[in-house]
Amino acid sequence: MYNHRSMKHLLVNAGQLLTFIGPSGPRRGAEMSKTGLCRAGAVLIEDGKIVTAGSHDLVSRHPQANKARVLDVGGRVVLPGFVDSHSHPVFAAPRLKDFELRAQGKGYEQIAAEGGGILSSVDAVRKTTEDELVSRLGVWAARFIECGTTTLEAKSGYGLDLDSELKCLRAIRRVAAHTALELVPTFLGAHAVAPELVHDPHGYVRRVCEEMLPAVAKEGLARFADVFCDRGYFSEAQAETVLRAALQHGLKAKIHAEQLAHSGGAAVAARVGAVSADHLDHADAADFERLKKSGTVATLVPAANYFLGLGHYPSGRKLIEAGLPVALATDFNPGTAPCWNMQFALSLACTQLKLTPEEALCAATVNGAHALGLGATHGTLEPGKQADLIVLDVRDYREACYYFGANQVALVMKRGAIVHATQDFRP
Ligand code: NIG
Ligand code: FE
Repeated sequence: MYNHRSMKHLLVNAGQLLTFIGPSGPRRGAEMSKTGLCRAGAVLIEDGKIVTAGSHDLVSRHPQANKARVLDVGGRVVLPGFVDSHSHPVFAAPRLKDFELRAQGKGYEQIAAEGGGILSSVDAVRKTTEDELVSRLGVWAARFIECGTTTLEAKSGYGLDLDSELKCLRAIRRVAAHTALELVPTFLGAHAVAPELVHDPHGYVRRVCEEMLPAVAKEGLARFADVFCDRGYFSEAQAETVLRAALQHGLKAKIHAEQLAHSGGAAVAARVGAVSADHLDHADAADFERLKKSGTVATLVPAANYFLGLGHYPSGRKLIEAGLPVALATDFNPGTAPCWNMQFALSLACTQLKLTPEEALCAATVNGAHALGLGATHGTLEPGKQADLIVLDVRDYREACYYFGANQVALVMKRGAIVHATQDFRP
C-alpha cells in the first residue's frame, strides 16, 4: 500500500472527480461554486505530481497512461486533499476542567481568568519535553491524514518563553520530517501574555519582537507569525507591532481577529497585508471592505463556536457575498476546538455558516491553500500541482458535507504516495 512517489498511478473510475480547475488566485463570489466536476473521471500521477486530470477518455489517451499502475476507486468521489490552514496542535493535555466548567455555564474568558484557558496549556507544555511533544504531535498527524487532511498549518503558542516556543516549533519540524502530513509552521508567541509578565504586557510584546522572533527566524522555524488580537489578549496596536516585526524577519502574517469582540484585528490584517484573518465573528462591513482591498483570505473556524457552545457563528454567506475569499479550517486546539476532522467543519459550514457544499469544499481545499500562500502548488487537481488527493466513500460530493460525525475518507494520497487506505483498498 505504501508505495514510492516516483511510481506512476492512473486513478480511474471516479464517479465524480472535483478538480477545482480555475483561476490561479483565491476563489471569491461565484468562483467558489465551481468545483470542476467531471463524471467518469481519471487522474494520471507521476513523480508526486498531477500529470493530467479529467474525463477518463481524455486522461487514458495520455502517452504515459498505459505505463501507470491502475487504481480503481469504484465510482467513489475524488477531490483534492483538505488544506487545513489553522491549527494549534502542539499541546500537552486536553483541557477537561475547562470543558466541565463550560457545561456548568461558565464562559471562555471567565474560565481563563480563573486559571484555565491558554495559560493552563502553557503550564503543561513548559513541563513537557520536546520528545514527548513530538510523539503526541505524531499521533495527531496520523489522525489528520486518516480524515483527509494532507496539509496542515501548525502554530506554536503554548510556550510563551523563548525556550518553550522554540521547543514547540522544533517539535513541528521533527514531525514534519517523518510523517506524510505536510506541516506549515507558524510562530504564535503572541497568543497570550506570558504568566511571568502578566503585569507588563508591553514588556512581553518587546520580548516577542526582540528576543523570540529573531531566534525563530534565525533557525528558519516558521513561515508565518500570528497574534491573538482580542479583548483581554493583544490590542490592535500591539498586534500591529508584532506582525510588522515578523514581516521584517521574513515571516508572513496571519491574525486571530474579531473572535471574542470587535478589537481591530481585521484592520491590522489589512494594514500589514496579512495572508489570512481568522475567526471574524465580530467583523463588520467596513472590515470586509478592508480585507477585500488587502487581498486577505477570510478563514472561518466554526468548530470553535460549536465547542464553546456560543450559539452564534460568523456569517460565511455574508463574507462570500462581500466578495472575500473564504477558507475553512478546524482550529484544532485543546481550548476551543479539539477536532481534527475537516469533515465536521464542512458540516458546520453548510448548516451554520450557510455555505453551499460546493463553497464549503472550495474553502477547505483551494482557498485553504491560498490561506497558506500555497495556491500555486496545492489545493486543486491541476496539471503540475502536487498529487495530494482523497477518495471519499460516497457517490455524490455533497454527501461529504451532509453526513456528519463520521469519517468518510477511503483513501489518501500525498505527493503521489498512498498514505492511508481503508480495507477496501488494501491488497
Ligand atoms: O483559535 N483564540 C485563540 N486561540 C485559540 C484558542 C486557544 C486556547 O483556548 O487554547 C482559538 O480559538
Ligand atoms: Fe486559533
